[in-house]
Amino acid sequence: MTTILVLNGPNLNLLGQRQPDMYGTTTLADIEAMCTAEAEALGVTVTFFQSNHEGALIDAIHDARGTADGIVLNAGAYTHTSIALRDAITSVALPVIELHLSNIHAREPFRHGSHIAPVALGQICGLGAQGYPLALRGLAAHLSP
Ligand code: DQA
Repeated sequence: MTTILVLNGPNLNLLGQRQPDMYGTTTLADIEAMCTAEAEALGVTVTFFQSNHEGALIDAIHDARGTADGIVLNAGAYTHTSIALRDAITSVALPVIELHLSNIHAREPFRHGSHIAPVALGQICGLGAQGYPLALRGLAAHLSP
């Protein structure tokens, strides 16, 4: 069965409490429940990991090789800073959908750039928590056209 890893980076463990005007009141546990329901509807398996540490995220991307067919990645602020995360994605050669709750292009200039976007299958941003099940749907369709 197709397996998709939903990988969340720094500060996303605080969703629901963190800047609710920007990120909404949905918690990460709520998002994982939404993803589980969507995965059931799509007939795929979904796994989850969140870390505030760049190296742990890189390890999770490496571990996805052989255990997952694709990744939905919200790398948080590492999106804008981490060449190492980008290199991890190109190293494992798995399709990645870059995900952001907020519209990074409509925010501060330092959020407009993404090291992930050029090596991602696509990017979803600005749709809040609903972006996660949409990303799963897009990745599942890509993996089983
Ligand atoms: C974010 C956007 C990033 O710029 C920010 O650093 C985050 C969250 C989002 O989901 O909108 O931590 O990735």
